[in-house]
This record gives sequence, structure tokens and C-alpha cells, in this order.
Amino acid sequence: MTFESTEVFALKMDEQDLLKHFRNNFYIPQQPDGKDVLYFTGNSLGLQPKATREYIEQELKDWETLGVEGHFQAINPWMPYHENLTDAMAKIVGAKPIETVVMNSLTVNLHLLMVSFYRPTAERYKIIIEADAFPSDKYAVKSQIDFWERRQLACNESEGRKKDDVLIELKPRKGEATLRTEDIEKVITENGDSIALIMLGGVNYYTGQAFDMKRITEAGHEAGAIVGFDLAHAVGNIKLKLHDWNVDFACWCSYKYLNSGPGGIAGIFINERHAENFELPRFAGWWGHDAETRFLMDDEFVPMKGAEGWQLSNQPILLLASLRASLDIFEEAGMENLLEKSHKLTAYLEFLLNNNHNERISIITPSNSDERGCQLSIRVKDADKNLFKAITEKGVIADWREPDVIRVAPVPLYNSFMDVWKFVEILKECLK
Ligand SMILES: Cc1ncc(COP(=O)(O)O)c(C=O)c1O
Repeated sequence: MTFESTEVFALKMDEQDLLKHFRNNFYIPQQPDGKDVLYFTGNSLGLQPKATREYIEQELKDWETLGVEGHFQAINPWMPYHENLTDAMAKIVGAKPIETVVMNSLTVNLHLLMVSFYRPTAERYKIIIEADAFPSDKYAVKSQIDFWERRQLACNESEGRKKDDVLIELKPRKGEATLRTEDIEKVITENGDSIALIMLGGVNYYTGQAFDMKRITEAGHEAGAIVGFDLAHAVGNIKLKLHDWNVDFACWCSYKYLNSGPGGIAGIFINERHAENFELPRFAGWWGHDAETRFLMDDEFVPMKGAEGWQLSNQPILLLASLRASLDIFEEAGMENLLEKSHKLTAYLEFLLNNNHNERISIITPSNSDERGCQLSIRVKDADKNLFKAITEKGVIADWREPDVIRVAPVPLYNSFMDVWKFVEILKECLK
């Protein structure tokens, strides 16, 4: 597609956009003068769907009038409420319904999944992660390693000696900002049967790079390792085919591209291959117990098949209602349509930034649309936070990451081509 660097062109793109009406389904924060802000932080916190209040109010109403009976008699009975979200979620991540469930929050789920899928032995104990993974993922992974080492130490001192090569951190080549798939594969091959787990982000939060999850999963399985992904920046943003790619497990939050609200409910994927593997160690709670016999209150834990067997607690209905409001919009818009618009919108942003020929600007996100979602990470040479403050004062909500990166995510559900045009004009002005 050929783009033009004119306001008229941006307006024309918006007119032709078949998804443009979805913007009206969201509250767009306002500037002091009443104009919409230029919101580019859907990669951090998605905007509020206007329907969210109604979905939550329905549950408040049922609680008000029914009390505990709402578990069975609410318009949307609470007992199976989470099941209402499964099909839409499964579609978004490319899973079978049995492979996914919404529950807890992201880091909690990552821990629960590592309890099951990181089972180091004396020979196979390493974890591969990105050097610039989101800090919470690193804390989680390092604390799991520490947990296992302490346990081994407690059980058998001779095998429990601390190893200093457990965590392998993937770094880009010198002078490059993103990882090459062949380099990831090389590390996997080199470490072969000493790798227990490969745990990467689906899209890196800093660079916006989308990894080739299919190839990485294949390489990991060839080495006999388990492969899992943190999809915080991928879900609702890129095409996912977790089942077809044979990924072992994944987890994600829903407050970014899935617009569930601050601290919203998270999701997990467990490959069908593990659905009936009840030998896997897991931390258990009553909501993971077989639903048919859960209320017999037996002492023996009988897990449900599939992802639901990893649930611990009864589900937070108000959070589920909030996510449901947004998933209904995804169902209506269709993920394929959203991806088509997303590619155009981000390519337009890239075109305008490059067309500007400003030597201070470089985009560290891959230019190949298969290797990114909607986010572009813009490195601004010799910039400090003052530049970011200046664009913020002009109505842009973006995101600054030290030392010199502005992350901008035009989201196809509510951003327009005019948003993108105005942002680049403001950036140019502030760089003068
Ligand atoms: C990649 C990634 N991992 C983990 C987290 C932490 O998520 P939570 O606080 O919901 O556990 C985030 C939050 O933004 C994230 O982007």
C-alpha cells in the first residue's frame, strides 16, 4: 500500500476505514480544552468500553436483589460465568476451548504454570529468557529457580548445590536492537538437553518485536524442553495460533489490548496434550476441582481436565464482567479485520516517521509486519524526558522508557489515521 504524507490522506484513510465506528464504543480521555487526547498507550492500559459499566452494573444488581442465589439465578449465573468468556478468548489466542481459562493475574499465573512446567533435574535445569524481558517475568523466573534450589537443598544436599548457569539470557547481536530467530535457535541447540524451559514474551514489551513462536516452539521441543510464552503484549495485538504452534503453555493479562480495566483478570493456555496429565505437579484450589463433585467437599483433589484444572479460587465476577464487555466488541469486530487495520495503521505511522528524515529518530521495532504488532518503539538520539513532557503537553499520551525510547501503540479498535498524523506532526514540532 502506498501512503501520502498529507492530512487529507489521513482523513481519507479514516473515511474508508470499515472499523472506524468502533472508536465510539470507547471513552477517549479528554484534554483540558475538551478535545480527545491522542491515546497511544493501549499497550499499557486499554481504554474503557462504554458498555463496561452496564455489564458490571448487571452483576451488582443481581447481587443486590439475589444475594448468594445469584450463583444460580443471576441473569448470567455466577457459578459458570467464566465459561461465557472461554470461546472468545480461545479464538483470540488460537486455542481450543479446553485449552484456555481466565483467572487470577498475570504474574500469579506465570508462577502457577512454572510450578507445573518447570521441573528441573540434575541434568535438565536451564531456563531461556530474553535479557530485556519485563522485570516481573525475570523476578518470577529467578524466584522459581531459587525455590527449586532450596527444595533440592532441603531434600538432598549433594544434588542441591547452586548452579550458576541456570538462567540463559538472550541478547541481540552487537549494534542490533532485536533478536534474530536463528540466534535463538542456536542457543537452544547449543544447550540442548540441559534446557528445562524456554519462557519468552510473545511480543517484547520494550522493542515491540514479535517472536516466531512456531519456530521457537519447534526448536525447543526438538531439544526436549517445555516452551511457554508470556503474551501480555501479544494478546489482542497479533495473530496467535497457540494450539497449531504446539506451544506448551502461555499466560497473559487483559488490561492492555483486551481493555478489561486496571488489574483486570488474566488468562492461561495449556496445550490439549497436557489436558489429562494429572501427574503434572500443580498448586491446587477448590475451583480447579472437578465441577461435578466440587460441592461434595471431599478432601481429595480431583482436577478438571484442561486449563480449568489450574483454577484456584472462585471467580471474581465483577472483573469477568468487565472483560466480557470488551471481548464482545472483539467478537463483533473480528480479529482478522482488526489485524488488517492494525497493519495499515502501524505501517502509516512508520511511513510518516521515516518520511520525516529526522536523523535523531530511529525505529527499533522490526519493519517486517510479521515481526511486530501495532507498537513502534522510537529511539530518539540525545533525547531526555523533556521531549516526552513536551509531547504530553500537546495532548499525546504515549510511554517513555529510559534511556531514550518512546513507545507508541496505535490500536485498531479506537485509534485513527488522523491520530497518527497528528502525533507525528507534534513530534516533529517538538524535535525542532
Ligand atoms: C510482559 C509483562 N509481564 C508481566 C507483567 C506484570 O503483570 P501483572 O502485574 O499483571 O502481573 C507485565 C505488565 O505490564 C508485562 O507487560
